[in-house]
Amino acid sequence: MATVTETPTGGMADSAHLARVTFRIRRFNPESSEHAFWQDFTLDIDPKERVLDALHQIKWEEDGTLTFRRSCAHGICGSDAMRINGKNRLACKTLIKDIADLDGGPKAKPVVIEPLKGMTVQKDLIVDMEPFFQAYRDVMPFLITTGNQPSREHRQSAEQRERFDDTTKCILCAACTGACPVFWNDGQYFGPAAIVNAHRFIFDSRDEGAEQRLEILNDRDGVWRCRTIFNCTDACPRGIEVTKAIQEVKQALITRRF
Ligand code: SF4
Ligand code: FES
Repeated sequence: MATVTETPTGGMADSAHLARVTFRIRRFNPESSEHAFWQDFTLDIDPKERVLDALHQIKWEEDGTLTFRRSCAHGICGSDAMRINGKNRLACKTLIKDIADLDGGPKAKPVVIEPLKGMTVQKDLIVDMEPFFQAYRDVMPFLITTGNQPSREHRQSAEQRERFDDTTKCILCAACTGACPVFWNDGQYFGPAAIVNAHRFIFDSRDEGAEQRLEILNDRDGVWRCRTIFNCTDACPRGIEVTKAIQEVKQALITRRF
């Protein structure tokens, strides 16, 4: 007979609807070993739950030392980007049923969860985000204006706003930068997320700092390092056309029109 159990999100799941899924997680604890290792956790879980719920279930019921970031749990804060079955995704926006082998038998493939590539792992699924945020700060992601304080709001037409609408959606999750082979090979590259956030201001009609930002991105580690591989666009959970934004910044560097 089916039993009713509480799910990690507080809902109720009928045991008849639970699936047996193995999560293979890359573990690393610098306090106990210099080597990372894989650990399997097999859960009976509602496949309509998210990967974040599975991580919670593991942490709360199996191994409290499992370490990962998350905050909003609703795709807004960008803190739980990780590599799930080889693709960068937000754990809170990834349904288990969409990525797991629900066969349940001994040959069922595990869901493989790793930290983002190209960034120093601090513990388990947590990477050091400081170089990522330094690149973000370097492109001056704020409105730059000169002259007197305006006496009324900065006016902008719908068309002018539309010009940079796509890049306003960034939640700084680093899924794009952590999917970029150029960044993997050389962490000095600004990376797609910093360029996306530069784009957001370069093409803002109210801003006067575009020339400064373009010069920053004209650097040896700047926008020209992009090889137009599109991994960043594929990885972005917000659907931002990251590669297109990078191309537009390159174009602005050549034409000085923005
Ligand atoms: S551009 Fe997309 S993938 Fe990159 S940091 Fe922003 S939201 Fe994340
Ligand atoms: S926890 Fe905030 S985006 Fe996933």
